[in-house]
Amino acid sequence: MKKILFAASEGNPFIKTGGLADVVGALPKYLDKKQFDVRVILPKYMCIPEHLKQKMTYVTEFYADMPRGQEYIGIFKTVSEGIHYYFIDNEHYFAGDSPYHQIFEDVNKFAFFSRAVLASLPVLGFSPDILHCHDWQAALIPVFLKEFYCNDVFFRNTKTVLTIHNQKFQGRWVIDDIENCRDLPTGCRYQAMEAYGESNFLKAGILYADRVTTVSETYAAEIQARDGGEGLDGVMRQVSGKLSGIINGIDYKEYDPKHDACLPSHFSNRSFGRKKRCKELLQQEMGLEKDPLAMVIGIVSRMTEQKGFDLVNCVMEELIDTMHVQVAILGTGEDRFESSFRYFAQKYPGRVSASISYSEALAHKIYAGADAFLMPSQFEPCGLSQLISMRYGTIPIVRETGGLKDTVEAYNEIWHTGTGFSFANYDAGEMLSIIRYAYSVFQDTPKEWTAMAKRCMETDNSWENSAGKYEALYGEIL
Ligand code: GLC
Repeated sequence: MKKILFAASEGNPFIKTGGLADVVGALPKYLDKKQFDVRVILPKYMCIPEHLKQKMTYVTEFYADMPRGQEYIGIFKTVSEGIHYYFIDNEHYFAGDSPYHQIFEDVNKFAFFSRAVLASLPVLGFSPDILHCHDWQAALIPVFLKEFYCNDVFFRNTKTVLTIHNQKFQGRWVIDDIENCRDLPTGCRYQAMEAYGESNFLKAGILYADRVTTVSETYAAEIQARDGGEGLDGVMRQVSGKLSGIINGIDYKEYDPKHDACLPSHFSNRSFGRKKRCKELLQQEMGLEKDPLAMVIGIVSRMTEQKGFDLVNCVMEELIDTMHVQVAILGTGEDRFESSFRYFAQKYPGRVSASISYSEALAHKIYAGADAFLMPSQFEPCGLSQLISMRYGTIPIVRETGGLKDTVEAYNEIWHTGTGFSFANYDAGEMLSIIRYAYSVFQDTPKEWTAMAKRCMETDNSWENSAGKYEALYGEIL
């Protein structure tokens, strides 16, 4: 039995701000339990919901040598859906009402977390064959492992994998100001960790990890190119031999149109007609006109530049004025996007509805009740929403980038193939014409539309598929 430890800054159901939590919460469940003992380690944030904290049990506590002196490390654990979770406790670092604060605090916090993970494992007696680290917050684990534990028999067989969920976030700060990195060798701090004069956690992790993965093949190629590498494209090319892309899956139990508890009506591709009821109730709940003929476009997203909302803003008026569509939006994020969606909702009551909040239940209702799902991302390492919408027979309209490109096959009206609509350039006009095309298929050839929606539902984007690829990767390393 090989031992795997996932180390990350968030994981469902304990703490979530984005797709990272979905992956960390789901993938361990799908790895072959006969071959792998997979556990997860997370910070014990004060903001983890109380009912989940109550399920944790205290394991032990100790003091570890850190640059500030001896620091407290508490370890808690719990089992969730058969997976063992460990939590690193230290209120000095993990207080507050969210997992992330100012970057200058966060770099020090996650340097502490990375060190604490390594210090805890001998205490727990869990010596992993693979330490699978996620994003910049855990990227220093391979660094501390190689710099501080290279002669430690406990870690003799430990190999490291770093998965990049978003290359834009790198954990950068003034080198000399990161207290918890101060005792790393000068060569490491000023060379491997350095990028553009700053300390860069992700870069260091990329260089020190035995293998680097990211969450789609296209994104693995994009980050090696100048305009997609967020400044690290040179490093990515340098390590291309150990870099690969593995697409994420989604949890087919959580997102299941046949049994979803959030839905008013259940359907499958055989009883596709019942999806109509979800649309009707979505229109009602979101205050949209009750109109079966309007094409409902759903958007569920963090409202950030990455997600392409400036394109949506540019064409919203033309979209509503020239097509028989409705838009249902759910999400929170940057003020400018939140306020523009509020504005459109006021300007077009019954046609545009914006819920500036986050509700898991409403998200499910949009995924299931909409006809199309819009995701015009500037870049998208994998993207989970397009996979979820496909599962509910809601046809994605996406920009051909990263995982969107790898998971949505463009509609071909001659061959009657494809699972969505896509456009290449980050351009509002191009996006509008592809929406117009989708709209014409929806209005003029509803049978084609339904057939495509059913193809979406038949596509296998479950974790089983992708978990097999991680298993193969672990196999190669071991
Ligand atoms: C990040 C990426 C997203 C990806 C998710 C999980 O949130 O932006 O594209 O799906 O991580 O890997």
